[in-house]
Amino acid sequence: MTGGVRNSTTGILADDKTEQREELVAMLQKAYWMEIETVMSYIANSINPDGVRAQEIIESLQEDIQEELGHAQRYASRIKELYGVVPGSQEFTAEQSYLQPPEHQTDVVHVIKGVIEAETGAIEHYNRIIEFTDGVDYVTQDMVIEILHDEEGHRRLFEGYLREYEAEGLA
Ligand SMILES: [Fe+2]
Ligand SMILES: [Fe+2]
Repeated sequence: MTGGVRNSTTGILADDKTEQREELVAMLQKAYWMEIETVMSYIANSINPDGVRAQEIIESLQEDIQEELGHAQRYASRIKELYGVVPGSQEFTAEQSYLQPPEHQTDVVHVIKGVIEAETGAIEHYNRIIEFTDGVDYVTQDMVIEILHDEEGHRRLFEGYLREYEAEGLA
């Protein structure tokens, strides 16, 4: 990388791993944007809902916002460590069509289903990163396994909320 300084000969930082590193950085950039969009969506959906039953959802999402923001920061740090650059805001493209505000703000089921969809998308992408990094980059793999654990917890919590509505025939 730098003149006169010896590069690592093993692991993801080795010169002969440049191609894999670039592919991994692209996957981490996608993960970073997913977290950033989730922060935006969870802020809106922790404020918009109306009604007695919305309170539990609001409180859960308020907590999750901080966790998702922490995930975005961890992805950003790892991108830099892998010689990538954290993208600027103009590279952002929104994808969470399912987490847009519902027509009626008492429609809590819409929010619950949207959160499950967002968490499921994260779980799928993070599993791909874990598989890609196997035997290639254990540091990234370790980090993403931890983040995946958080997302599985978020998903399970909202599945529980959905079950309650399904049991009452409301979802
Ligand atoms: Fe996250
Ligand atoms: Fe999450």
